[in-house]
Amino acid sequence: MGEKQAVPTGSSRVIAFLHPLVALLTLAVMAWAASLGLRSRDRLERHLRPRHARLAAWAYGLMVFDLLAGLGSTWALRPDLDARGAMHLRLAIAIVAVMTGAAWLSRRIGRDATARLLHPILGLLALVLAGLQVFFGMPLLPL
Ligand code: HEM
Ligand code: HEM
Repeated sequence: MGEKQAVPTGSSRVIAFLHPLVALLTLAVMAWAASLGLRSRDRLERHLRPRHARLAAWAYGLMVFDLLAGLGSTWALRPDLDARGAMHLRLAIAIVAVMTGAAWLSRRIGRDATARLLHPILGLLALVLAGLQVFFGMPLLPL
């Protein structure tokens, strides 16, 4: 107990960068999906809605993957982190929870005004939290 572990080296270190890189890609997909969703509210841009729905589903899937990959990566490769990722982990769970809410509401948008109001709000909240996640992830990088 109490002995400080070193940051991984060699191939473990390279693999430990996989989660942050995929997470950045996820962030880009999510921002793009959000933009399409908001633009699709314009009557002339309605045709963008199915593209929003498709891309947002990818963003959601990638985000769940990021959570699992982060946990797996920390468990298998980063014994040096101890509990340093606690806030990053909490934020990750919050993001996936908020996105799950947005995804669930999205199925009621056509017939429920509250869902139509709340869906983009939850989506944007998830996007903001995911942006913050970069700053909670950076100090964990195996540099
Ligand atoms: C955007 C969504 C993201 C999610 C859902 C997410 C999720 C997680 C989770 C659950 C862990 C495990 C923490 C623990 O068990 O204590 C983790 C670890 C980690 N995360 Fe993230 N993360 C995200 C983004 C990022 C970003 C943008 C970066 C870097 C800039 C990053 C860097 C790291 C690092 C370095 C670790 C330690 C494991 C490793 O080195 O691969 N994460 N992440
Ligand atoms: C990332 C932030 C997000 C924003 C800003 C956003 C925004 C929007 C907006 C403005 C609409 C149109 C609502 C209307 O006025 O009728 C919409 C629809 C929709 N969104 Fe999102 N959304 C986001 C995330 C998501 C996520 C995570 C999912 C699912 C995984 C999703 C799936 C859908 C679906 C299925 C529709 C309805 C498509 C239809 O009925 O034609 N969105 N979104």
